[in-house]
Amino acid sequence: MAGYKVLMFDKIPSTQTYAHGLIERGNAENCMVICAAAQSAGYGRYNRSWVSHHGNLYISIIYDAPVRRPQIAYSVAVAIVQTIKSFGVDAQIKWPNDILIAGQKVCGVLIEFVGDYVVVGIGVNIKSNPTVSGYKTTKLENYADVLQSELLSRLLKNMDIWLDASFDNVRDRWMESAIGLNENVEYRGKIYKFTGINVDGAIILECDNMSYLIYGDEIHFPYLSKD
Ligand code: BTN
Repeated sequence: MAGYKVLMFDKIPSTQTYAHGLIERGNAENCMVICAAAQSAGYGRYNRSWVSHHGNLYISIIYDAPVRRPQIAYSVAVAIVQTIKSFGVDAQIKWPNDILIAGQKVCGVLIEFVGDYVVVGIGVNIKSNPTVSGYKTTKLENYADVLQSELLSRLLKNMDIWLDASFDNVRDRWMESAIGLNENVEYRGKIYKFTGINVDGAIILECDNMSYLIYGDEIHFPYLSKD
């Protein structure tokens, strides 16, 4: 894979914590990919556990990030959607970067800035999907034959494309795939209309003729059923 150095493991606690360790010890390099066949302590946003059996994709990619750009989350989501679509499967983005097929989560993304690097953790359900309270999940195998190695290779190519793209292009592509655009969402117990994202990567919510910019918080999509 051009420019990427991929470290493959069978089972480790977490590709994300492995990447953190490389950074802390001064051994990290731009475009390093930590890939594990399984994880014993995978974790997601808000430190929720990420069930990581064999058969799915678990990677953490290290990129140079002397400046912490929140926009990276959008490039990553667009790259993943494009990758899934390349297998003939339609996918959508649930803000900020959960990837869904038919309203069910197939992929989670965790973005952590560590020193001068950003660690992009991606878990894609290929062969199994955990039962999780609060939202529905699915796996790629329900929709297409997907080889893990091919998924990784296409994903890294698309990451290069979308990390290099202008934010205007990223934002347009992100909005094309976004769930709930111009619909009602719940934010901190109140209903707003979700109208887009701004140049800084903040989500724009509207209510009573006022616009609000939300950075890195949880919004809820009432029509995404929880059962
Ligand atoms: C989420 O939806 O909360 C994000 C989940 C991110 C999971 C991936 S799997 C590879 C990497 N290693 C981890 O421990 N977490 C991320």
